[in-house]
Amino acid sequence: MNSNTLYLFFIFSILVILNNVFHFLSQSTASDSDASYVLACGASTDAEDTNGRTWKSDSQFLLNSGDSMTLSAPVQDPSLPSIIPYMTARIFTSTSTYKILVAKGRRCWLRLHFYPTSYGNLDPSKSYFDVIANGFTLLHNFSASITAQALTQVYFMKEFALRPTRSGDLNITFKRTLEHIKDAYAFVNGIEVISMPDIFVPAPLVGYSDQFVEVDSSSFQTIARLNVGGQLIPPTNDSGPARTWYDDSSYIFGAAFGVTFKADESVKIQYPGNSSKEIAPLDVYNTARSMGPHGNININYNLTWIFQIDANFTYLVRFHFCELEFESVNQRVFQIFVNNQTAEENADVIAWAKSRGVPVSKDYAVYARDEPGDEELWVALHPSLSTKPQFYDAILNGLEIFKMNDTRGNLAGPNPVPSPMPTQADDAVEEYRPSRSKRAAHLIGGIIGGFVGCSVVARLFICFTKEKRKGYRSTSSVGYRLPSYGRSHTSTSSSTMSSGKSTASSHLSSVAAGLCRHFSLLEIKHGTKNFSESQVIGVGGFGKVYEGLIDGKTKVAIKRSNPSSDQGCEEFLTEIEMLSRLRHKHLVSLIGFCEEDGEMILVYDYMANGTLREHLYRSNKPALSWKQRLAICIGAARGLHYLHTGAWYTIIHRDVKTTNILLDEKWVAKVSDFGLSKMGSNPNQTHVSTIVKGSFGYLDPEYFRRQQLTEKSDVYSFGVVLFEVLCARPALDPSFPMEQVSLVDWALHCQRKGTLEDIIDPNLKGQLNPLCLRKFTETAEKCVAEDGLDRPSMGAVLRNLEFALQLEKTSEQPEPVSYNSADDTYAMYTVMLGIDENSVVSLENNAPHKSNAFSPMVNPGPR
Ligand SMILES: *[C@@H]1O[C@H](CO)[C@@H](O)[C@H](O)[C@H]1NC(C)=O
Ligand SMILES: *[C@@H]1O[C@H](CO)[C@@H](O)[C@H](O)[C@H]1NC(C)=O
Ligand SMILES: *[C@@H]1O[C@H](CO)[C@@H](O)[C@H](O)[C@H]1NC(C)=O
Repeated sequence: MNSNTLYLFFIFSILVILNNVFHFLSQSTASDSDASYVLACGASTDAEDTNGRTWKSDSQFLLNSGDSMTLSAPVQDPSLPSIIPYMTARIFTSTSTYKILVAKGRRCWLRLHFYPTSYGNLDPSKSYFDVIANGFTLLHNFSASITAQALTQVYFMKEFALRPTRSGDLNITFKRTLEHIKDAYAFVNGIEVISMPDIFVPAPLVGYSDQFVEVDSSSFQTIARLNVGGQLIPPTNDSGPARTWYDDSSYIFGAAFGVTFKADESVKIQYPGNSSKEIAPLDVYNTARSMGPHGNININYNLTWIFQIDANFTYLVRFHFCELEFESVNQRVFQIFVNNQTAEENADVIAWAKSRGVPVSKDYAVYARDEPGDEELWVALHPSLSTKPQFYDAILNGLEIFKMNDTRGNLAGPNPVPSPMPTQADDAVEEYRPSRSKRAAHLIGGIIGGFVGCSVVARLFICFTKEKRKGYRSTSSVGYRLPSYGRSHTSTSSSTMSSGKSTASSHLSSVAAGLCRHFSLLEIKHGTKNFSESQVIGVGGFGKVYEGLIDGKTKVAIKRSNPSSDQGCEEFLTEIEMLSRLRHKHLVSLIGFCEEDGEMILVYDYMANGTLREHLYRSNKPALSWKQRLAICIGAARGLHYLHTGAWYTIIHRDVKTTNILLDEKWVAKVSDFGLSKMGSNPNQTHVSTIVKGSFGYLDPEYFRRQQLTEKSDVYSFGVVLFEVLCARPALDPSFPMEQVSLVDWALHCQRKGTLEDIIDPNLKGQLNPLCLRKFTETAEKCVAEDGLDRPSMGAVLRNLEFALQLEKTSEQPEPVSYNSADDTYAMYTVMLGIDENSVVSLENNAPHKSNAFSPMVNPGPR
């Protein structure tokens, strides 16, 4: 061996050693600091999901991979947010264990993702299994398919926070519950493991003085995680273990929503020295809900949230507070109740945090006994009077509920019971008061509903429409309740749609295809006199709209896509998906579609009176009366309110304008054109909607700036519609002088100068009751507020418009009406809270003068 080779050998050895050292170092850092694993189970290679997160193949973590199979899902449900990790599954036919190295002495967050479907023709209804992690039973006799049905989601996630281990080993075992049953199996689609410094501390047990629950030795399951008074926070914006924080409004009891607000610019929110950012992101503290500005009303109600839980477990309730308005002690002091017991007699956020803008969190534990009614956990806030604070009010910024393991180390509860069948609630009064069961389902849906929870809409409406066909009417009060449809048969018939040449057609779900009628091109040609120009009733970005006849007698509107339009394809599919599942008195119904020879055609109910716009201006049609206009606005608001809240997840229309509000032969307003709709509450949305769509003149300036879509963007556009209805001129009219081109800018300008009357449609002169007009313009003005948070919800808009109509009707009575502005808000408040007005009045020394004009609203009839 000459010196050269020796030298090379030496270098080589050094490299090998270095490499090993490096390897060792990187492994040991992985186990000592915060390790995280994101595994796509059954996947053969690493791949990215739609959020750009990489999911690794799970096989190297499986101890005995010989006993499991990897299978792909036969059908990709359109509501799945991403192919990864849902389209592949690891199927276990005998007990199998994952072994993962995590950080020693750290709490470990574990998320299990499930998409129950017929993998390799296995029957999902035969899959009952247990999941055990480090000795804790996380799931027992668990059926993913029943759980998905109860949630009305096709996929979902379960989150656990496991007790820290000394060894740094995490063993997750999947085991069939009944080993002897043939074809039974366990499965999982995705596993996330994140280890982190512990964020749990011993919590006082409510109802027992000086008793604390021990948290170090316990594991937890997440039941709810809410950004109170704010919007959804996606995992990518979390400051801890990639959590999703949901909007709280659907958990609130009754109609007493209080008010929500955001920190104003002068408030700088900062973690206090001893607290870590892992507890919650600043975005949670930045928004809050309080009871409202009227102390005399606040003392008469509890601001209450309700959660569905399993009995016989202890729950940890974590309140996140941050005072955003007041600076001193004893300004806002309140009581905290958990399950009817007092958790805190005098909660004063400033006293705890020492200063405004400083987050503080408080934990309380409560044991849920197995008594009737204890499947629910109630959290309530009420002003505390004993310290005589300056304001009778309460505040909350965030709320989390965790289930603690029982003494045997068990966390598993029974499978949920899918709710009874839905009916469609058209009734206005009922729409404001979601049933308990709706809320309950919402809750589970909200939290374990997957880190990208948007699937529900789809599922929901399927059952909806199915039920309609069967003529089923539920006796249960309200709500858009859930399905017990068999998933297996919805996923088999995808071939019906694959006739077309467009590649996109394969994305149309079998469900949508099965829900509405499939027309042949021949039928369509026949019905439209071969697309005769004489039949054209409208032209849009999508193509032409024809009046047509089907089955020789039914008048329909036929929308034919412009074959050259590329973009149309996606919107075509969106529209079928959406509309075939949405049924509401104030939404245009889709009858069917035709996809043949590259044609994309949609068939709708015929709307005899055309668009709202053609009755407002630039047409020779007679002008609509003010009451007609109000009724149309109320109808459209109801349709939009339904889109925003009637489904489990918000559907955002994105293109609200007067040409998308159609009128049938009885002048009933129907919202149309869902081609641009997006499902909200979806963390993806901020990424997806980077292309601003919609129509100029109606676009939410905030959406334009931040490219973030919320239902408040629809509220803005609807505000523009309200001004258009009032002034009978287009949203943008370049023929006007510069300052008048934009209707909204001009109307707001006139409103400020008190000259709004001058730009009102001359046809309305003499018809307008000033109170009604005021309510109407006030509402329109709030809708177009710069900041989305300052805009009312569609529900509030609806209530205000109904109130305006009420004022209009009252004014027709001969008696003179005395008006007092305090009465107005006062009456509204009472109505919204469902409080008996007399009890409020008696509590206030200078009770507002009660005007007869409002009595119909104070007692709005049956609830
Ligand atoms: C709760 O525990 C009691 C007493 O052990 C038992 O009878 C009851 O069935 C349990 N309830 C549930 C929902 O597990
Ligand atoms: C608020 O809730 C507490 C505890 O459940 C109850 O005792 C109290 O009566 C409630 N107050 C009102 C005004 O409903
Ligand atoms: C959770 O399980 C562990 C281990 O079995 C036990 O030590 C602990 O006390 C349990 N926690 C509760 C709240 O019962």
